[in-house]
Amino acid sequence: MKIMLVFGTRPEAIKMCPIIKELKRHQEIETVVCITGQHREMLKPILDVFQVIPHYNLDIMKEKQDLFDITINVLQRIREVLDKERPDIVLVHGDTTSAFATALACFYMSIPVGHVEAGLRTYNKFSPYPEEFNRQAVDVISDLYFAPTDCAKENLLAEGKEKETIFVTGNTVIDALKTTVSKAFSSEILDWAKGSRLILLTAHRRENIGNSMQMMFEAIKEVVEVYEDIKVVYPVHMNPVVRQTADDILGETDRIRLIEPLDVVAFHNLMDHAYLIMTDSGGIQEEAPSLGKPVLVMRDTTERPEGIAAGTLKLVGTQKADIKKHLIELLTNPDVYQSMAQAKNPYGDGHASERIIRILSEWAENRSSTTEIHP
Ligand code: UD1
Ligand code: UDP
Repeated sequence: MKIMLVFGTRPEAIKMCPIIKELKRHQEIETVVCITGQHREMLKPILDVFQVIPHYNLDIMKEKQDLFDITINVLQRIREVLDKERPDIVLVHGDTTSAFATALACFYMSIPVGHVEAGLRTYNKFSPYPEEFNRQAVDVISDLYFAPTDCAKENLLAEGKEKETIFVTGNTVIDALKTTVSKAFSSEILDWAKGSRLILLTAHRRENIGNSMQMMFEAIKEVVEVYEDIKVVYPVHMNPVVRQTADDILGETDRIRLIEPLDVVAFHNLMDHAYLIMTDSGGIQEEAPSLGKPVLVMRDTTERPEGIAAGTLKLVGTQKADIKKHLIELLTNPDVYQSMAQAKNPYGDGHASERIIRILSEWAENRSSTTEIHP
């Protein structure tokens, strides 16, 4: 069997590399890795950590790329790679435009698609944007669904996907997390934060850019100015518009540090040492529950209800007053803090990659025996 894995952004790399690492133990499977290059600087350190050398790089990234740029360039450039390799199945991940355009190309070329992290939904096509559309579109095309949780499986079943094609595997992010967090971790940021409560901040979502992101940053700045025992570290996404907003609002604030994006080992360990996390990220909502870190999710919707049910996540929207209220509550009410700081892990046991490979092997076997009976 020949499997091709295609991905392009930081979160996809963090969640696909554990599968590639596991595939290295399966000599009977030919593995081809193609990166779209939707991200450049933010992808490289992850490939280095997991020692993954891609066979192809479509190298599409350009500054301030829009959704047309990503879709058109991936679609055009992947055609040749798919045509040359003719894999038995292509694995895509999650909800990025790299995943959507790759799945579309596979559909046009009649190549089966396996969707890793299938079935997440908000059912609001504008939130997150364009991810909710991307993930639903990928699921229309996919042949195999690797759902991280029962809830994701239920979504797929409710949409009429065939039960035999859906597998609950856990999320591969837990596979990654098991290899990165270490009690021995030290860093200059932790030295700087010693004696303070450290808030880890990230923000990058397309639909938040503009007024919502300004409101988030202003809320945090105003709270930091009052509570002197807190410090904030923000590894700023490389999107130039996000950088400008972060610089303008948070750049000159005491006890707030804007730093470059961290490699995944440093970031996971910083999460592990943080007092609380504020974010609009998707992946961080999956990692925080197993580390027992309270997260204020600065979004109006989440496709990760498991973390809300576990009590670790609170959806606080993007209004300044709401963010301030919830942040102050978490800083001043120990009962609220403790209730959110319980380590729970709704995302599996860290063996999702093994399961995915086992399912793919069985699928390939069934396919070849079916082909023999019905040539
Ligand atoms: C993309 C995904 C989003 C995911 C996020 C993870 C889409 C439409 N969006 O959004 O689902 O949550 O990645 O971070 O698929 N840039 C660099 N270097 C990099 C990466 C980005 O300079 O290594 C800059 C470029 O100017 C680029 C911009 O950031 O144009 C935005 O990148 P893009 O991939 O379009 O959007 P993200 O917000 O990163
Ligand atoms: N992350 C990282 N370095 C950083 C910030 C985040 O390695 O400086 C990791 C984080 O642990 C998570 C993933 O990147 O696994 C989330 O990526 P992002 O927030 O960019 O995308 P999303 O998950 O929202 O699609």
